[in-house]
Parts: sequence; structure tokens; C-alpha cells
Amino acid sequence: MQIIKNASEMQKISRELKDKGKRIAVVPTMGYLHEGHLSLVRHAQELADIVIATIFVNPKQFGPNEDFDQYPRDFNRDNSLLESIGCDYIFYPDVSDIYPLSYATEINMSGVANVLEGESRPGHFNGVALVVLKLFNITKADVSIFGQKDFQQTLVIKQLVRDFNLDIQVIIYPIVREPYGLAMSSRNRYLSEVEREKSSIIFVALDEAKKAVAKGERRRKMINSVILTTLRQVPELKIDYVYTAKAENLEITDEFLPGEEIVMLIAVWMGRTRLIDNSMTKIPITLNDNNFIEGI
Ligand code: PAF
Repeated sequence: MQIIKNASEMQKISRELKDKGKRIAVVPTMGYLHEGHLSLVRHAQELADIVIATIFVNPKQFGPNEDFDQYPRDFNRDNSLLESIGCDYIFYPDVSDIYPLSYATEINMSGVANVLEGESRPGHFNGVALVVLKLFNITKADVSIFGQKDFQQTLVIKQLVRDFNLDIQVIIYPIVREPYGLAMSSRNRYLSEVEREKSSIIFVALDEAKKAVAKGERRRKMINSVILTTLRQVPELKIDYVYTAKAENLEITDEFLPGEEIVMLIAVWMGRTRLIDNSMTKIPITLNDNNFIEGI
């Protein structure tokens, strides 16, 4: 495995690999890797000849009062983990390499970037889109893999790819969870053991809502209410948002249609740690009394 710290060097290597006919996958990360990231890399290995994991804590996606400085970093540990699973390259640039003093271009996204995380963290997705665009250009990847845990981010990246006609495939990999249900995240390290266990209610809430949908609940407010009632069993959790919407574009409607794919998204604070999670499900297509399929 090679560690590349310089964007021009990474670009040169990628160009040479492409000239040799190699298919490249990129797994963008901010480091402090966990099993969720490693699953993305393993999946990337199935899809491409060469896998580049990028490690870069992107200052442009953190707000002024957010945890950029405290964001966990441990390059040696990340390096050993990626080496142990046979990743080919780590792209590990300095901030000054990605954003030199002369840097002048920003991205301003609207639409799906403006709700939820976009509202709670103004400018966040502009920063994400910008760095992801740069990482795509630097690595020249054919395919990129992102975790479903950051569901809204995956929609933002798909939008970016469409809007800029980027020649790269975007693959979304399912959420990897701790044995007790908490979605894996680098920020989980801020939680105490008790907080982690208590936070598993987030997964329980999503599961309860999924069960309600399977039993026929299609009303958005009722699905949200199942989630809220469950979350409130743990008073230490401060709810930021609970949002159920069409998975395709986060559009809301009073009642979802049979066959529609929906996503239930949650953001909460546990102490000083903000946790996000989500789950997708399909509104069942049920047979009514006359055996007609509803919604068709
Ligand atoms: O999901 C993340 O870790 C980051 O938002 C990403 C995609 C690496 C961009 O900095």
C-alpha cells in the first residue's frame, strides 16, 4: 500500500493506472476509521482493480462552532487498518495542498442540500460537495463508495454528479452497526459506554417505525410519531429532527403511496455528541378485499 500526500502526485499515479486500463474506486473518508469504513473499502475491492481510500478532515464542511479541531484523528491506526485489508493507496493530503492560499472557488448547492443537515449545519453540504468534487478529480476514480449512514450526503453527491456531468458511479453501502444497534461513526468515540447503550434506542425507534409501515401505516406524521414516542423513552436524548420522506429526493407528503421507497431520518444529541441515523423501507403493495392491487 502506498501513502500519497500530494494531489499532483496522486493525479499522476491515477492517470498512469487508467492508461494501463485499470478501474479505480475511491472511498472518501475523514479518517479515524471503523468497521463501517472498512466495509466500504472491501466492497470497493469487489468493484475495481485499484482502491484509493482518502483521509482528509475537510475544514470547509465544519461550521465555526463545530468540532473540526477536536475531530478524532489517528493516521497510524488508519494506515494499519487499511494495510491489513489490502487497500492499494491512501491519499492523505494536507489542508494547504487541497486549499492553497490562492484557492478561490466555492460550490453553492440548493435543493436536497437545504433541508435537515443543511438547515442544522449551514454550508455543510457546500463543503462536502466541494471536497468530493476535488477528490473525484484527483483520483480519477470510475466508482465511488459512500455509506448510507450519511443518507442526505449520498443524495447531495448524486446531485453533484448529475449537475456537473461527472463520469463516476456512486455506490451506497448499507449502514454497519454496533452489536446493540448504534450506527458506527467516528464520533461514537465521544460517547461513554452508558451513552452508547442508551443511544441504541435510535435503532429501536427506526425498527418500530419500519414495523408500523409493514403493518400498513402510510401517514407521514404517524410514522414520525412512532419514532418520537420511542426516542422519548430515553430522556437524555435531545431530538434535533425526525423526518420521513421519499427516499429519492427527501420530498414530503401527508401519505406515501404503495410501492414508494421512503426513508426515516433521525438526528439527536446525546450529551455533546450529535448522532444521525436512518432507515429505508418500502410502502407495501397490499391486496384489498376485492384482490385488486392498490396503487396500480
Ligand atoms: O462522510 C464523510 O466522511 C465526509 O463527509 C466526506 C464524504 C469524506 C467528505 O469530506
